[in-house]
Amino acid sequence: MFSAETYQNRRKNLRNEVSNGVILLLGNIENPINFEHNTYPFRQDSSYLYYFGIKAPNIAAIIDIDEQREIIFGDELDTDALVWMGRQETLKEKSLKSGVTETLPFKDLESYLQKAKFNNRTIHFLPPYQSFNKILLSRLLDRHLDELLPSEKLIKAVVNQRSIKEAQEIEQIESALKVSTDMHLLAMQVAKPGMKEYEIVNAIQKFAADQNFRFAYPPIVTVHGEILHNQFQENILKNGDLILNDSGAETPMGYAADLTRTFPVAATFTERQKDLYNIVLEAFTDARNLLKPGVKFKDIHLKAAKTLVEGLSSVGLMRGNAEDAVDNHAHTMFFQCGLGHMMGLDVHDMEDLGEQYVGYTEFEPKDKKTFGLKSLRLGKELQAGNVLTIEPGIYIIPDLIDIWKAEKKNQEFINYDVLESFRDFSGIRIEDNFLIEENGYRLLGPDLIKTVSEIEDFRKMSLS
Ligand code: GLY
Ligand code: MN
Ligand code: MN
Repeated sequence: MFSAETYQNRRKNLRNEVSNGVILLLGNIENPINFEHNTYPFRQDSSYLYYFGIKAPNIAAIIDIDEQREIIFGDELDTDALVWMGRQETLKEKSLKSGVTETLPFKDLESYLQKAKFNNRTIHFLPPYQSFNKILLSRLLDRHLDELLPSEKLIKAVVNQRSIKEAQEIEQIESALKVSTDMHLLAMQVAKPGMKEYEIVNAIQKFAADQNFRFAYPPIVTVHGEILHNQFQENILKNGDLILNDSGAETPMGYAADLTRTFPVAATFTERQKDLYNIVLEAFTDARNLLKPGVKFKDIHLKAAKTLVEGLSSVGLMRGNAEDAVDNHAHTMFFQCGLGHMMGLDVHDMEDLGEQYVGYTEFEPKDKKTFGLKSLRLGKELQAGNVLTIEPGIYIIPDLIDIWKAEKKNQEFINYDVLESFRDFSGIRIEDNFLIEENGYRLLGPDLIKTVSEIEDFRKMSLS
């Protein structure tokens, strides 16, 4: 945990922003896998972690602005729990570490909220995402699930606060990145023809676990990098394949890293792979160089798209004026997703609070319809203190070729004849994490190898 003052100051800022009413923050539960006592690994809610730092399940908190009370609701271990789970730090002890002196049994939450409702006080809560908490909120607030109305004021206040990282948060993220960088080097070291994808996953998972870190998200480690959220990890690595490794560790306090590297199973890239890799790297570099406060991330996304189109035109896959191609969204044949997203206590930071609030403004709302832009999680102006990813890619998706080609879609910009010969190419992504600073940006974590020659040299060494 950070110091008690850290959590007290964060809550004080939150109280000032929200200004009145009762703030209710729910922790997470241990979700069952196949029966109640066999549970998925517990992960505390990130906003709960941010304001209280306590990792225990089945707790909630009230920040009562009007009555100036802060209460943690939860149950101390009873005799049975003591027998089965052993003596642990009490909730009272945990609460003191986050600067809260008042604790109450969990069941008292209901009467506290009923009283607040009876007195017509506003109860602010965030959008629930765990089913248990949706049902709990529905019961506590006596509202149908579909009628639960999260507090926009609270969401905006939390987003404003969590979007600007403190120095101690940056240290956490850099520590996640240190482990993640080594995970990526290890993957590049152990990958051999004939292995299964999951053997790489197992190796990097062990490496992280040996340092008491875990994955910040289910890793994508695949020879089919064109499948954007590929979770299948049973393919056999063959010479000629590219391995896309999108994996990142989470610190014990919950801070994430999110890195992607793409490397050949063989010691070297093929000429075709090298060409497209360098196009992605150029888009990455162009985008990174534009990072600074005041610049709209959507504009950086579109600049990266333009660089991709220019590169793809140079190898005959696209043609025509690059700006017109991007205006017509022709690049989304190759780059179907967004250039990046905020990162912090969540790998897609605060996505549970709503992309519109985290990545956009009411004056320039998120485009929820256009293919490509609808997957861009961040569009608004950057501010010093933001932490985000840059992750351009080229993904050749055979089904998408068939659909667009049949529709003759964007054929003035896409050279379908050449594209046919790339059907089995797969995908490339390069992803790093950055802090926005007053005068520009800073790469977070160690500088992980990413040029063709750096990767080939490392692969040659690993395979010899
Ligand atoms: N690892 C998921 C992403 O890159 O957004
Ligand atoms: Mn990633
Ligand atoms: Mn990412």
